[in-house]
Amino acid sequence: MKKAFITGASGGIGLEVARQLAARQYQITMVARNENKLREAVKSLPGSGHLFLAADLTDERDLQMVADHLATYKYDLLVNNAGAGIYGRFTDIKLDDHLANMHLNMDALVRLSYSFLQHATSGDALVNVGSLLAHSSLPGGSVYAATKSFVANFSESLWYEYKRNGIFVMGFNPGAADSEFHAHAGRTAGDFPEFVVSKVADVARELVQALENRQKPRVMQGWKNRLMMFGFRFLSRKSAVNIMGQISPGMRS
Ligand SMILES: NC(=O)c1ccc[n+]([C@@H]2O[C@H](COP(=O)([O-])OP(=O)(O)OC[C@H]3O[C@@H](n4cnc5c(N)ncnc54)[C@H](OP(=O)(O)O)[C@@H]3O)[C@@H](O)[C@H]2O)c1
Repeated sequence: MKKAFITGASGGIGLEVARQLAARQYQITMVARNENKLREAVKSLPGSGHLFLAADLTDERDLQMVADHLATYKYDLLVNNAGAGIYGRFTDIKLDDHLANMHLNMDALVRLSYSFLQHATSGDALVNVGSLLAHSSLPGGSVYAATKSFVANFSESLWYEYKRNGIFVMGFNPGAADSEFHAHAGRTAGDFPEFVVSKVADVARELVQALENRQKPRVMQGWKNRLMMFGFRFLSRKSAVNIMGQISPGMRS
């Protein structure tokens, strides 16, 4: 039986990925802050032997505990999915909130990737969940979008570094999905045009399929998102950022 370690798996995309991997006989260990939600999430998975670790990945001691766990126990797969965003104009948000967001989306992801890859062997895989915003800036979500560019770039380099060892690294970039993410970030998924919002189960299915295919270092989720980003190639950066600013939930008061 294969073992997967998934961060941010108490809800949203992470929980759906956990469910779909558990249905494929993976034994799951999940991480998030809310212990009650984790307990319920573990119970909802098919199969048995699933575990959870309650940890706040922005807290130094918790992060060290999770990193030590990953360095001690052998997993076949790490999915760095935990992430958050904050909508609003840059200086309307507290600097500490931006820094905590960067810590979760980038520092924690790098630390856990390091612990995992130090002991990874041929056949293992690392998936880092980025965003469509890896390919575009987002006025009203400037720091969040920048963290996701980091994730995609970082993952692509690792893909090359580890492929010779038979270890697959993938940056998976979802577009808008109907999770609690947008509520946590200060808006709702309803702030996006309905046709661009994917269901979390569909996002998770694409992630698991891309993981099984082991083809690309960078995967963009959803054909509508791929079409939109293809169209952006024919625009100047200035036009693209103007469009993103007009549709961004973070630029609405
Ligand atoms: N939804 C979208 O539209 C969308 C689009 C593109 C990319 N993404 C990316 O997809 C990933 C998953 O997002 P989602 O939509 O599933 O969001 P979500 O529904 O808000 O779920 C986030 C998960 O991360 C956990 N988490 C948040 N802060 C944490 C922390 N400090 N320490 C440990 N765990 C933490 C949450 O649990 P607790 O609250 O219990 O800690 C939850 O399990 C994120 O990386 C996000 O950036 C989402």
